[in-house]
Amino acid sequence: MHTPTQAPPFPFERTDDLHPPREYALLRGSTPTARITLYNGTEAWLLTRYEDVKAVLGDHRFSADARNAGFPFVSAALRASVGQKHIPFLRLDPPEHDRLRRMLSREFIVKRIDALRPAIEEIVDRAVEQLLGAGQPADLVSNFALPIPSAVIAALLGVPYADHEYFQERGRRMLSSEFTLEQSARAVVELREYLGELAERKRAEPGDDVLSRQVHERVLTGELDPEDLKSSALLLLVAGHETTANMIGLGVYTLLNHPEQHARLRADPTLITRVVEELLRFLSIVHTGVPRVALEDVRIGDTVIRAGEGVIASVPAANRDEAVFAAATRFDIDREPNRHLAFGFGIHQCLGQPLARTELEIALTRLFDRVPTLRLTGDSTFGPEKSVYGLHELRVAW
Ligand code: HEM
Repeated sequence: MHTPTQAPPFPFERTDDLHPPREYALLRGSTPTARITLYNGTEAWLLTRYEDVKAVLGDHRFSADARNAGFPFVSAALRASVGQKHIPFLRLDPPEHDRLRRMLSREFIVKRIDALRPAIEEIVDRAVEQLLGAGQPADLVSNFALPIPSAVIAALLGVPYADHEYFQERGRRMLSSEFTLEQSARAVVELREYLGELAERKRAEPGDDVLSRQVHERVLTGELDPEDLKSSALLLLVAGHETTANMIGLGVYTLLNHPEQHARLRADPTLITRVVEELLRFLSIVHTGVPRVALEDVRIGDTVIRAGEGVIASVPAANRDEAVFAAATRFDIDREPNRHLAFGFGIHQCLGQPLARTELEIALTRLFDRVPTLRLTGDSTFGPEKSVYGLHELRVAW
């Protein structure tokens, strides 16, 4: 048990389905750079003000490389990922980070993602049919929210339809808290093997997909190590799956809990862009924040963060900062401007954000068009309280 003088254990618990832990607002007012205790007893700094979170994420003196001493791991599972030989660029600093990210950046520009719209619409329509076919009440998470991002990432990477179950099952095993650490680790090994074999096939028979282009334009030219290609492909799978699925489920839940704003969206579908931005800010699903470690002494407000000390930049706290967002606890689709940090900030800012926005827009629009009477039946389970906040189950009827 901790006493009031000890740094409190982190992550804090949520006591409300739609709001981040209460501690954030209290700390932001009293101790914007606060000490916290991580799962293994080590301490780190927690930042809860918008300006401080943005400053740290935009400052090269803070490293995202988890191999640096003092890096703040929020769970044993995240620590277990270190020690691997080929680290995804999310956890690397420049110059390696920039080199690996640049090879993929063209794939995620808005123009490219717009070209994927028809494919995403088809995937969403299939998911609507799956939901309607499941009988009432149905679970919207397993029948709608989860299948969409897994099918989208499979299409993006160029996973053949015949393999998509193999791919999705392991993708799920890698990420879901229903499985043990060993089962997840095994899924990673199998997916790496699978991606290696798929890359070989793309070498002989290229398609119109990210993996084919990476093999032909990067690997065969000697620019990219095939093992790094596997790491980047896995990063896309991990970073884009649970996040998007949780945003779809929680987005539906939030709109159904705000009937007046939901009705406005139904009457004017062009509001969807604003709705998605406000959902991103309001929900801020990166529950455990964004971890960094100081490479040198840096002053943040009244505090000097010493070289080697870990920092958690809390995105959910920053996005509820009243100094930047008036009536920040309110879900408000009229919010303007809405410069939220839901996708992070700085050089690691989410590469997949145009894709995430497009998936959310299409999923929410087509679901409510096709099932206008959609309603909650009351039995939903929230969580997992891992690094990303979301839903296990969302029971709906229509
Ligand atoms: C709504 C859904 C999503 C949210 C809330 C989200 C959030 C984030 C955040 C906060 C970061 C920064 C992490 C850091 O600075 O350490 C990030 C990075 C990243 N995200 Fe997303 N993400 C989402 C969807 C996606 C999708 C769909 C993809 C791609 C398929 C994707 C790919 C990535 C990648 C590759 C990075 C690492 C970027 C880098 O290190 O340079 N994300 N995401």
